[in-house]
Amino acid sequence: MVMFKNCRRHFVAVVLFLLACAPARAKVTYDDKGFIINGQKKILISGSIHYPRSTPEMWPDILKRAKEGGLDLIQTYVFWNGHEPSPGKYYFEGRYDLVKFLKLAHQAGLYVHLRIGPYICGEWNYGGFPVWLRYVPGMEFRTDNKPFKVAMQGFVEKIVNMMTSEKMFEPQGGPIIMNQIENEYGPVQWEIGAPGKAYAKWFTQMAAGLNTAQLPWIVCKQEDAPPPMIDACNGFYCESFRPHNPNTPKMFTELWTAWYTAFGGPVPRRSAEDTAFSVAKFVQNNGSYFNYYMFHGGTNFGRTGALFLTTSYEYDALLDEYGLPNEPKYWHLAELHKVIKQAEPALVSSYPKVTWLGKNQEAHVFSAKTGGHCALFLSNSDPQNAAKVSFWNKQYNLPAWSVSIFPDCKTEAFNTARVHARAPQIKMVRTNTILSWQSYIEYPPSVGDKDTQVTDGIWDQVGMTRDASDYLWYTTDVNIAPNEGFLKDGKEPVLTVPSGGHALYVFINGQLAGTTYGTLANPKLTYSGGVKLKAGVNKISLLSATIGLPNVGKHYEQWSYGIHAPISLSGLNEGKRDLSKQKWSYRVGMKGESLHLNTVSGSSSVGWAQGAHLTYKHPLTWYKATFNAPDGKEPLVLDMGSMGKGLVWINGEGVARHWPANTGRGKCGTCSYGGFYSETKCLTNCGQPSQRWYHVPRSWLKPTGNLLVVFEESGGDPKGISLVRRTKL
Ligand code: GAL
Repeated sequence: MVMFKNCRRHFVAVVLFLLACAPARAKVTYDDKGFIINGQKKILISGSIHYPRSTPEMWPDILKRAKEGGLDLIQTYVFWNGHEPSPGKYYFEGRYDLVKFLKLAHQAGLYVHLRIGPYICGEWNYGGFPVWLRYVPGMEFRTDNKPFKVAMQGFVEKIVNMMTSEKMFEPQGGPIIMNQIENEYGPVQWEIGAPGKAYAKWFTQMAAGLNTAQLPWIVCKQEDAPPPMIDACNGFYCESFRPHNPNTPKMFTELWTAWYTAFGGPVPRRSAEDTAFSVAKFVQNNGSYFNYYMFHGGTNFGRTGALFLTTSYEYDALLDEYGLPNEPKYWHLAELHKVIKQAEPALVSSYPKVTWLGKNQEAHVFSAKTGGHCALFLSNSDPQNAAKVSFWNKQYNLPAWSVSIFPDCKTEAFNTARVHARAPQIKMVRTNTILSWQSYIEYPPSVGDKDTQVTDGIWDQVGMTRDASDYLWYTTDVNIAPNEGFLKDGKEPVLTVPSGGHALYVFINGQLAGTTYGTLANPKLTYSGGVKLKAGVNKISLLSATIGLPNVGKHYEQWSYGIHAPISLSGLNEGKRDLSKQKWSYRVGMKGESLHLNTVSGSSSVGWAQGAHLTYKHPLTWYKATFNAPDGKEPLVLDMGSMGKGLVWINGEGVARHWPANTGRGKCGTCSYGGFYSETKCLTNCGQPSQRWYHVPRSWLKPTGNLLVVFEESGGDPKGISLVRRTKL
């Protein structure tokens, strides 16, 4: 009996213990019709905002506009290389203050979809991976590789633990309602086969095993994602997408609002009409989550942009680079969001009944079994012609390539092609800021200079720089015998320098002899040109510059950068001389970088020329000027149209890689909203600089005495630089 009593007590204790340990009831669940948050099923409207692409001072307004524009949630990647710049040394401040950003989103009444990655693609330097990761012994990215998996798990756990301790998950009272692991892994898995499958299985189990308050995990573009991962679609249109698991919501994780701009390329745009059409088609086909990629694109400040990516990441998003509404897109889509919310009760509780009304015309009716909720979508997918359709004994006019929405099945509340908002005229208006420049010229280093490292042969650029700088100097001495034939006949020997990219400046005896740039399509380059050499010792100094590191591509950790063998000099008595095997002297970065000329304290470490002595249109020149902040609130922008290529800082903050890169590539022309959009369809800026205007966040300025520093590689004219206001007329 005593034993029985004891047993019973024991039993009760075990039950109580189990109850205490049992996870709280999940607050975010889903079925095939959508996500259910605290018991309410929703059509979720989302937008991507990447926190390091704006400043903390800009975040509240950007988030407010997201809420006012009808978003339920925002989506952001987590930027590993910004958070762990060197192994184990973390940074979560300034533009990388993730928790602050999430708290502000919460305060603005928005949920968050956190895309932890940590591979994020995103046109971000190295796809978000810290460059040191590549140099961990045995490293292979995004595959079944132990060192990679250890590092990835370490970072993902770091973020999840941080979110937990900051109570950021919705069931804890925070804004995060779902997470993402990896990014678009499907195509990679398909390409690399078995190790890819094993890696996908591993990251699924790893992520699902973490304590994220039972929130759903999303992957995107990964069709055979193992459960519990929910696979999702990215693209310009996703209405035909079917999730791999039919019991999961139909998600459109990246609805591309246009496309990115590369240096040397045109600026893509996508119309408000077609963006709305893509949304409406998705929703009428049972879609229950869509995310604008990007809602606010912002800026790749400093050196954060990926390979050949411009500093601006505007992306023709709903907000412009400065965080202001991009009209008519913002307003038109805000109207659409209101109508979708009116239709929501019908959308989440019924499947569409589809009736064909013509070759390209359809009716989609959502009619709830209870509550009398009803929503009607009438669509016309004819890219050019409007259509008259009749449905339920009524006639309707549908513009070409459009969807009309009737949120109560009776009243037409919205048509995707009828845009009522107007685009205001935007002008860049010069401020009266006078920039009075000073200059400092840098000269190519010589073999054996004390800040150089002499080795045999040619080394990979990023292996040497670890991306601490865009620049690597390769210098060597070449002996020319007095009896060389070319010294008499005047036929210059030809120097040939192949490079993995991305820009190359050739200096012979301190003088710039030639320049070659790669492109996004072909980052590799070869310089080949006649060189003026004298009898005796000649100094060949090659300045190689990277222009961002790739963010995508099979095994991109194995790609090489900078100059490689064979470097040759032809036209000598001996024929061709291979210079690759001789001694080369390396210097990482520009001298001005190591002296911190870009900072207030470092800038006084050299003597600057000014007034009549100012040098301009000269390669390898630093410029500085101080200025007072122009008053007002309008965004400030630097007009760098007169410059060549280089870097810009204000008060030590990296503003940009500047480079007009006017190569005139791409075909711009008239752009009709009708018909399928692609990234080559509505191009602008052909024949003009890819980027002329560079955002200067107001919060980086003091009222007086701001230090503007420009490093110019090729020889621009700083006298043409001006500070302008982005003004709405
Ligand atoms: C997607 C990727 C995004 C971004 C986009 C293009 O494939 O997931 O991160 O790179 O392409 O802008």
